[in-house]
Amino acid sequence: MRIAVIGSGYVGLVAGACFADLGHEVVLVDNDQQKLAALQAGRCPIHEQFLPELLDRHRGQRLQFTDNLQEAVRSSAAIFVAVGTPPTDQGDADLSYVESVAREISGAIDGYKIVVEKSTVPVYTSEWVRKIILRNGAPVDSFDVASNPEFLREGTGVTDFLYPDRIVVGADSERCAAVMREIYAPMTDGSYYKKHDAIPRPDRAQTPPPIIVTSTKSAELIKHASNAFLAMKISFINAVSSICESVGANVQQVCQGIGTDSRIGPRFLNPGIGYGGSCFPKDLMAFRAVARECGYDFRLLDEVIRINEEQRHRFLRKIRNALWTLRGKRIGILGLAFKGGTDDIRESPAILLVQSLLQEGCHLCAYDPAAIERTREVVGNKVEFATNAYDAAAGADALLILTDWEEFATLDLSELKRKMRYPIVIDGRNLYLPETMAARGFSYYSVGREPALADNQSTRASDNPQGATRKA
Ligand code: UGA
Repeated sequence: MRIAVIGSGYVGLVAGACFADLGHEVVLVDNDQQKLAALQAGRCPIHEQFLPELLDRHRGQRLQFTDNLQEAVRSSAAIFVAVGTPPTDQGDADLSYVESVAREISGAIDGYKIVVEKSTVPVYTSEWVRKIILRNGAPVDSFDVASNPEFLREGTGVTDFLYPDRIVVGADSERCAAVMREIYAPMTDGSYYKKHDAIPRPDRAQTPPPIIVTSTKSAELIKHASNAFLAMKISFINAVSSICESVGANVQQVCQGIGTDSRIGPRFLNPGIGYGGSCFPKDLMAFRAVARECGYDFRLLDEVIRINEEQRHRFLRKIRNALWTLRGKRIGILGLAFKGGTDDIRESPAILLVQSLLQEGCHLCAYDPAAIERTREVVGNKVEFATNAYDAAAGADALLILTDWEEFATLDLSELKRKMRYPIVIDGRNLYLPETMAARGFSYYSVGREPALADNQSTRASDNPQGATRKA
């Protein structure tokens, strides 16, 4: 099928490359000339596993790039809209890009086409897109609007796309649903997975994936409700981790105990320094705004957001309690991206902590395998950057682990200890076992677990930054 994807950000680029890998003819549309030139020249503008391979495989063949939206629409049977929906000051989604794209699409409709929302949008957006396309002259029978939310995580977007738990399609006519089924047929009939050069199957993937066809409104709500539920799971376990710290319990044991209940499940139960990224914070605010507009006061979401912010403040208190005063202290930072496997620092809790520590007068030396350039754009030369984890730790009064990169979980602890001024590690991602760290001579503070002090450290109350007041 001939498919146009409008917007070549994270979602559009991954979707376009994956549609090409499924065998479709794809044209990716963007009005950012620099980005187009980079893509045409063979560069991959984002850090995403398997994306460079797919772009190399299909560029100039089943994958074309253009700034000519109308021509792309005319030559395609399905038009996926994957433009940005940034938050407004009030927290709701700014849909002006979606509207202007809908207006432009309208003028190019010259036969039956489906227009598919791929960006995360509030309920009723498909109705608005339909109205805008009609208002701008497209005949009523010449198009349908569908909603096809994505559940891609940054870093693993390609495998999430090709090996999804489910494909959700919101379509209000059978004609439109049939086109969507045809697009995903190589996945739902299993033929893609038999190809010798298919992207490798991740653990846990069940193929073929089910396709769930709903109304467009339901599909729009599925996306917001899924992200809100996942964020709620994270805030829930972060709240539980605070209680664990107060009573001297171990949050990992608690997670194992609750996560093995198949109704709850073990995933997205990792406590940390709070969720970040370009999706959860924005989508929670947008969902809350949607609910309010519909007359429902979704206070549960307020609490999810509040716990998330509080988790970061708690971590800052933990640092303060471990180091006493902060002004002038040299602190090594491992991790700047909002999670491991990506160079994205949008709403990254690591960056927010870096900014707080700078305000406290700390000297920071940071390392991240992918996000240094982006961080430099935000903090300039206020932070020193290292080229590896050990250099970030050199001479440090303490080392903070803020992002769950795999390489941070396998550090050479002897080398690390040798480099640091004081062997104090404050781990916001629970990458190590407290007993291992203590045995290796570190004072180690983590989330939802008792601090482990190196053998030569006292256990006075002031050494216990989590404020554990264990009851007899
Ligand atoms: C999220 C969803 O997981 C995707 O399903 C969705 O498609 C995407 O948003 C979106 O709406 O586009 P993403 O933002 O890439 O994906 O990242 P996640 O892997 O979900 O992580 C989000 C944040 O939660 C990160 O800061 C991560 O460190 C944190 N997190 C995640 C935890 O603190 N604990 C966990 O157990 C899991």
